[in-house]
Amino acid sequence: MAKIISITSGKGGVGKSTVAVGLAAAYARRGKKALIIEMDLGLRGLDLMLGMENQIVYDLGDVLADRCKPQDAVAISEQLPALSYLAAPSRPVAQLDFEKLLHCIGLLKRQYDIIVLDMPAGLGLSMAVSQRAADLALIVATPDPVCIRDGAKVASMMEEEGFRQYRVFINRVSRTAIKKSSIHDLDDVIDGVGAPLIGVLTEDIDLQNAQSKGRFLPESERSSMVFAAVSRRLDGEYAPLIITRL
Ligand SMILES: Nc1ncnc2c1ncn2[C@@H]1O[C@H](COP(=O)(O)OP(=O)(O)OP(=O)(O)O)[C@@H](O)[C@H]1O
Ligand SMILES: [Mg+2]
Repeated sequence: MAKIISITSGKGGVGKSTVAVGLAAAYARRGKKALIIEMDLGLRGLDLMLGMENQIVYDLGDVLADRCKPQDAVAISEQLPALSYLAAPSRPVAQLDFEKLLHCIGLLKRQYDIIVLDMPAGLGLSMAVSQRAADLALIVATPDPVCIRDGAKVASMMEEEGFRQYRVFINRVSRTAIKKSSIHDLDDVIDGVGAPLIGVLTEDIDLQNAQSKGRFLPESERSSMVFAAVSRRLDGEYAPLIITRL
């Protein structure tokens, strides 16, 4: 049975999909059978990030409309064969059958070691799915006050709903980002969001470039090492945070 990790944020564009891909790739590289489900219904984008845009035949919309079985809509990465991907529909789903979505995730859970849910920004679907289906939610936040406040909202809503398995992943840390805002250090982000820290990723132009070409960063790159360490920590192993000196 797969462990299910949802990747959430209050604010959009903070790196959820980047973290979802990095984390799923890290698990796949460790020999785990990993699946990313793209939950940003109507806004497909991971196919390009994963370099799999020519492999998509069916998507989550087809599954929810009974045009295919969940497993038939899953595509296997040619770059990383232990990594599979279930694409979001490229058009909005008129009426989402939430229970059916959960049922579909439940069926796929039996076939993987790890399922990473790449959520849309905001509170609605992300909150509901995390609470009902995920073992753990990562709240991605960048070191800026708006993002921290939105992340805190996500954390407090999860707490109110009785879902306490959430962690903060701090992304796009750079000297410029810190200098530009009123944030002094990473503790301000951790305290501001109000969640235990799971990982820190610095601004990485190589990661961005690799992503825009639909490629994975090599395993030896620092960002890949960060995701590998996070995947180990999520499995309960001791793996130190890899924090680059700014
Ligand atoms: N650590 C990083 N270093 C450099 N660029 C990054 C980093 N993390 C994310 N990015 C870039 O930021 C942009 C937004 O990232 P991404 O699509 O992962 O965000 P998102 O939270 O999934 O957005 P959305 O809310 O629209 O789904 C992308 O161009 C991505 O390459
Ligand atoms: Mg995204």
